[in-house]
Amino acid sequence: MVPVTFVLFGATGDLAKRKIYPALYNLFVDGKLPEAFSLIGLGRREWTDEFFQSNVEQSLRQFSRREIQDHGKMESFVRKFRYTALEIGRTDDYKKLLQVIEERESELQLPPNRLFYLSVGPEYFTTIASNIAESGLGSADGWKRLVIEKPFGHDLQSARDLNEQLSKSFAEDEIYRIDHYLGKPMVQNLEVLEQANPIIQALWSNRYIANVQITASETVGVEERAGYYDHVGAVRDMFQNHMLQMLMMLAIHLPHNSSPEDVRKHKKQVMEALVPLSKSDVSASVIRGQYTSGSMGGNPVKGYRSEPGIAAASMNDTYIAAKLQVDDFFWRGVPFYIRTGKRLKEKSTRIVVEFKEALNQPSTAALGGAPNLLLIDINPNEGIMLQLNTKENGELKPVQIQLHESSKDIPEAYENLIFDALTGNPTFFAHWDEVELAWSWVQPILDAFRDNSVPLHSYEAGSNGPAEADALLAADGYHWWFDS
Ligand code: BG6
Repeated sequence: MVPVTFVLFGATGDLAKRKIYPALYNLFVDGKLPEAFSLIGLGRREWTDEFFQSNVEQSLRQFSRREIQDHGKMESFVRKFRYTALEIGRTDDYKKLLQVIEERESELQLPPNRLFYLSVGPEYFTTIASNIAESGLGSADGWKRLVIEKPFGHDLQSARDLNEQLSKSFAEDEIYRIDHYLGKPMVQNLEVLEQANPIIQALWSNRYIANVQITASETVGVEERAGYYDHVGAVRDMFQNHMLQMLMMLAIHLPHNSSPEDVRKHKKQVMEALVPLSKSDVSASVIRGQYTSGSMGGNPVKGYRSEPGIAAASMNDTYIAAKLQVDDFFWRGVPFYIRTGKRLKEKSTRIVVEFKEALNQPSTAALGGAPNLLLIDINPNEGIMLQLNTKENGELKPVQIQLHESSKDIPEAYENLIFDALTGNPTFFAHWDEVELAWSWVQPILDAFRDNSVPLHSYEAGSNGPAEADALLAADGYHWWFDS
């Protein structure tokens, strides 16, 4: 693997502790970090290298998916870490940083390949990117990459502005936009499921598929993120990014041996084929919800408007369900139902593909059976299940066949994504075209929510969401599968 310097902005922050250090450590243990590797952590606080290293060590003990048994191994990992204090807006600090990086590069004989990981609030992205470019940090003989995390903008216009600013300092192929759902093993599997299985490939179109249901339900509420969440809602927090990415990954039809460019080209085509909504259509296809008080696991929980930091009359969406249509050769006429929300009954991310009934035959339901279903469990369980009908005592009976269950010891999303960023594989990162098309599709919903031209339905904490989301499917003769 190509040697590299990992420059981490926000090294003292929560994401670094919970996700980034454990991911890097697990890559190290699996032999997936380059032999020559240097990490420079950056933060506002004045920390020594030793203090930084002991902090990293602590976070590994607390958050690594593997127990730390080999102390020597962990020591040799954290010894690769250095710390430098930096004020994001102070240009002199970037010159100092350049020196630190160059010293380490010459000490370890590293080529000047530099990956800049921005684990900081989005309001700092453009300042950091332009300071990197102007200080010469990124103009060395090796490569440079910028890794950023959502949110990429607040709406279509702000996303375009952000992108325009970033593109002054980094080319599109140097920007790695993390959508952590694209790092989830079962989401990565979607591409293979259809491509590598002729029997699924043969069925993967409007000829045999009746509808597709994509659910990401969460049990948590707003947690300590009121300041962020009350301005964002489920539509920006989950729908514009994670949910639409899952739709793209499910709906693409890829050629064999497809390259990262093919994957992105086909995802873009799916987004381009999405039938746009106008602001006045929103209420017919989109359900907006907000949780009220209820009970979770036997414990009473507050309603959204009583959560600390939330405005008493907040109209923010903590739930969204929508019906989408992909108007292309494969999917024309197949509704995609998507929903996500907080404080729902269970934590579950899954995709259900419901197949059509056979032609010219009585419906399976009338005979005691049920439609054929393919269930793709993404999180927290991972697996694939197929529902078929068999005959028992003269009656049809649906049987569920577990096709695949992942082992528990699999890499986390961040391990996959950081490895790909280090090796320069952009397949599972969001390209600007996808991000822009997703914002364009969502913009009329944002406008309708802002103007309150769609109702805000309440749902009890601990339920499966507002009843109106059931009615959305019922109007087409369907229902959500696997609601507990
Ligand atoms: C994040 C959202 O992107 O995804 C959170 O900001 C949400 O609000 C989280 O809880 C869900 O991720 P996961 O991997 O737990 O499904």
